[in-house]
Amino acid sequence: MTTITCIEDLRRIAERRVPRMFYDYADSGSWTESTYRANSTDFEKIKFRQRVAVDMSNRTLQTTMVGQEVSMPVAIAPTGLTGMQHADGEILAARAAEQAGVPFTLSTMSICSIEDVAANTSKPFWFQLYVMRDRAFIERLIDRAKAAKCSALVLTLDLQVLGQRHKDIRNGLSAPPRLTLPNIVNMATKPRWCLGMLGTKRRQFGNIVGHATSVSDMSSLSSWTSQQFDLTLSWKDVEWVKQRWGGKLIIKGIMDAEDARLCVESGADALIVSNHGGRQLDGAQSSIAALPAIAAAVGKEIEVHMDGGIRSGQDVIKALALGARGVYIGRAFLYGLGAMGEEGVRRSLQIIRNELDITMAFCGLRDVKKVDRNILLPGTFPE
Ligand code: GLV
Repeated sequence: MTTITCIEDLRRIAERRVPRMFYDYADSGSWTESTYRANSTDFEKIKFRQRVAVDMSNRTLQTTMVGQEVSMPVAIAPTGLTGMQHADGEILAARAAEQAGVPFTLSTMSICSIEDVAANTSKPFWFQLYVMRDRAFIERLIDRAKAAKCSALVLTLDLQVLGQRHKDIRNGLSAPPRLTLPNIVNMATKPRWCLGMLGTKRRQFGNIVGHATSVSDMSSLSSWTSQQFDLTLSWKDVEWVKQRWGGKLIIKGIMDAEDARLCVESGADALIVSNHGGRQLDGAQSSIAALPAIAAAVGKEIEVHMDGGIRSGQDVIKALALGARGVYIGRAFLYGLGAMGEEGVRRSLQIIRNELDITMAFCGLRDVKKVDRNILLPGTFPE
């Protein structure tokens, strides 16, 4: 058994254990993947100022995100088909997040349903919403999230159309996977995964199959998006969702200061600077490069969160330094999940927590709420 020291270790194990189609789904960006790569490589360019001989005792990572206590400012991002990385993946990740004291966000395109996750956890989680053409279905989805006592709604605005991910097309991505010869051959090399899947009933898009209609292929993410996602989505709809929901609202997918201003005007509680993990507009700048201008424009009026490219606690603290109140991890937790289920997600959160804590100490700070751009070396970070 390999010793696990960092997120990359978990990624390598996940790559071996998860069927190719689902590993590739997580580990890819759109088209040339230039934005996907920039999300990580732009973090590497940012350098810290190392401080010495300062009191490093009694450190704390506790803070709040949308007014809710978090044990560190790191939430689990909504990711599609999480229950295909590992059987019952959303439930397992939600439990690991709950135990770690951080928010878990359930995707609309999850395998386990809102009700499944609520029945198997004891603290409220967050729900991510995609707006579809069938408004009656969206109303019911919002009401289901309320009934499950979700404590924030994360409304994604950057996926009316789907960016092309070449590997998903080549692999014929679907949930559940089709039993073609190449899929069977590949799955035969993933016995743990198969055993898990045989032991669960949750193998379809749990929030939508049986609740929404009029999609020709119920198992395909690209069919859902092209046939059901609303091309006419506008800020008027954001207002409608906000009214219907009535609770904490977080808007996801903001990369531009003008759109950030519209978020403030919408009355949302937070926005997420996000390019969807480099999976949508290829050629957009990295999230960490977009963050400072947005934080400068609206950071006093709305909570600014970010996601994209975070694989370590060092990345987390850089995002905090550049104006994020909190961040989200997507792939970093999916690798843990694919590698070893609930224990793997727990490990990925522990790794990031430890890296964040020790890095904060090296930078001469004891309280994560005090992190600002003074910890960064001038000239190495985006303005
Ligand atoms: C869906 O949200 C995706 O990025 O695949």
